[in-house]
Amino acid sequence: MMTKTLHSEEETLLFGELIAKGLKAGTFCALEGPLGAGKTCISRGILRGMGHAGHVKSPTYPLVEIYNLKTLTVYHFDFYRIIDPIEILEAGFRDMFGGENICLVEWADKGKGSIPIPDITISLTFNRDSRNISINAISQLGQQCLEEIL
Ligand SMILES: Nc1ncnc2c1ncn2[C@@H]1O[C@H](COP(=O)(O)OP(=O)(O)OP(=O)(O)O)[C@@H](O)[C@H]1O
Ligand SMILES: [Mg+2]
Repeated sequence: MMTKTLHSEEETLLFGELIAKGLKAGTFCALEGPLGAGKTCISRGILRGMGHAGHVKSPTYPLVEIYNLKTLTVYHFDFYRIIDPIEILEAGFRDMFGGENICLVEWADKGKGSIPIPDITISLTFNRDSRNISINAISQLGQQCLEEIL
C-alpha cells in the first residue's frame, strides 16, 4: 500500500500520470471515495499519462467513456447511477473487463457481483484544500503495477 497527500488539482493530475506508468495491460483499477473526492480527476491524469491528449469527460451520465489509445483501450466507468448490478450485465459491460484492456471504475462497489474483483484500488479522501490518496494492490497483477509506481 502507498499513501500520499495531494495539495492541488494539478498534483492530482500529475500523480495520475505517475500511476499510468505502472499500469499493465488488463488492469482493473477501482476508484473509491465520496462525491468530489477526485476520482474523475485522477482518471484524467492516468489517461493523460497513457498518451490521451484530448478531454476526459466524467462518465456519470453515459456510464462509460471509451478511449482507444495506440496499444490498448481504456474503459472509464462511473457506476454511481447503477441501482442494481444486473444493469451492468444487461448493458454488456461485463465483456469490457479482462483481456488486455484497462478499466478505471468510479463507484465500482455498485457493480459488485457483476464485475470481477479489482487488481488495484485507488482511494481518495476529501479535505477542504487537499486530497489523501492511497493505492492498494489486490491481485498479483496489481502488485506488479504498484511496484512500478512506488
Ligand atoms: N489534490 C486536490 N486538492 C484540492 N482539490 C482537488 C484536488 N484534486 C482534485 N481537486 C478538486 O476536487 C474536485 C474533484 O472532482 P471529481 O469530479 O474528480 O470528483 P469525483 O470523485 O469524480 O466525484 P463524483 O463521485 O461526483 O464522480 C474537482 O473540483 C477538483 O478541482
Ligand atoms: Mg467522477
